[in-house]
Amino acid sequence: MIALEQFHTFLKKKGFIYPSSEIYGGVSGLYDYGHLGTLLKRNLENTWRNFFLNLDQNYYEIDACQIMHHDVFKASGHIEHFLDPVLNCSKCAFFDRADHFLAENTEEQHLEGLNLKKYDSLIKSHKLKCPKCKSPFQQTKLINMMFPINLGTGQSNTAYLRPETAQSPYVDFKLQYELQRKKLPLGLAIIGKAFRNEISPRNLTLRQREFTQAELQIFFNPENFPTNFKKVENYKLNILLVKDRKTKKTKSLACKSLKKQLPEWYLYHLATVQKFFLETLKIPKEKFRLFELNKEERAFYNKFHFDIEVELNNLGFTEIGGLHYRTDHDLSGHQEVSKQSLEIMDEHNKKFIPHVLEISLGVDRMLYSLLDLAYQENKKRGNVILSLPKKLSPFFCAVFPLVKNKPAITKKAQKVYQDLKTCYSCFYDQTSSVGRRYARADEVGIPYIITVDFDTLKDNKVTIRDLKTTKQTRVKISELKDKLFKLYFS
Ligand code: GAP
Repeated sequence: MIALEQFHTFLKKKGFIYPSSEIYGGVSGLYDYGHLGTLLKRNLENTWRNFFLNLDQNYYEIDACQIMHHDVFKASGHIEHFLDPVLNCSKCAFFDRADHFLAENTEEQHLEGLNLKKYDSLIKSHKLKCPKCKSPFQQTKLINMMFPINLGTGQSNTAYLRPETAQSPYVDFKLQYELQRKKLPLGLAIIGKAFRNEISPRNLTLRQREFTQAELQIFFNPENFPTNFKKVENYKLNILLVKDRKTKKTKSLACKSLKKQLPEWYLYHLATVQKFFLETLKIPKEKFRLFELNKEERAFYNKFHFDIEVELNNLGFTEIGGLHYRTDHDLSGHQEVSKQSLEIMDEHNKKFIPHVLEISLGVDRMLYSLLDLAYQENKKRGNVILSLPKKLSPFFCAVFPLVKNKPAITKKAQKVYQDLKTCYSCFYDQTSSVGRRYARADEVGIPYIITVDFDTLKDNKVTIRDLKTTKQTRVKISELKDKLFKLYFS
């Protein structure tokens, strides 16, 4: 297994991810995506759109401001509750998030959301001191994680950078509900930036201060949320329930066996999310789990909360997203603070506030886990292979002339490339030996390489090399696009 730092260096060297503002020394928790990282991110976002927006005809994507009104976060509870526990050294400038510091320095687990006194007593019982100057810590404090900003010149015009994309669909709900002919369930999705003043950003893009979320808010009537449960009742979830935590063993449980604990509509969406990870993102089943959070650990707005986790090299099971039943917490809050009615009528003319089921995924964390699991050192081939799902690969194909110093071949290769580029994300390379080029393409996960060789000039055929098997197939140029189309969907 590659060491974490080496892996991060690889991601930088290949143009996936690197520190932002690096010529000034970088800023903790801020990263840029390079040319390959950006292509991969766009493919991932479009894959997410394809999957989640197609779950229902009444699901739509919206695009909303990243700066939002102060009162949005008063209503949502973020001003009061979106707090993290900080440990400060009593002498030097060292600080860290209390739960992270304890997790890294003790065997304690699941430390999120504890009472402040509990953190202090754990620090005391484990005799923990400042790692820099060995002084004792101050009492644990809470700090709000949102970034306030002043609009214009007035102090009173404080707004916030949104800490989650979710609040825009909530404040836009009534308008969108009316535009969508007053139909529930209604899904409003956003793929966009969120901002959090993380106390201890770490692990590249896994914990940043500016990151991208892909979130779908499903508004529904709590008395009637129809889903096709029959379709998933025998589907087995990889799940770790609170009651099974001591054994640490993920169970494989059919949805129908969990009906006593969770409503059908929630189980249906747990199955949907798992299918997205296993079937679309091709995460191996044993590296995926749905992790139930208990009352203390759940986000302040949730009634049911399962984290969606992937087991990463070096880092173990890591939260990538969550399935959140937020009840009417947000809409009721916005109704109260904005003094605008957010109630709607059911079919019996009874007023109610819709409830929300949120499918929340971190794009950066999904992307990191794809790269982490795709990285393979292939001893036989003597190089690295990035084995990404082919629809997600930054480039789906590449065109190589066998040699670079034969104008007839390079000209033909350029022609093939220009033509393929109109349909596929395609890369062209004629530098160094063809063997080196294959190896470089393997390292960035290009599934298919088209090589134009001497025979091409006679028979108008090219070879297609498969990244995973290295097998080469000869195809007529006139049939190349169709062949690649079939490979794309195979
Ligand atoms: N709207 C619900 C919400 O924001 P969350 O659990 O706080 O819930 C959802 O965040 C997802 O956003 C996380 O599971 C993670 O993938 C991503 N995320 C949260 N904070 C992040 C950070 N600092 N850096 C990168 N991704 C983050």
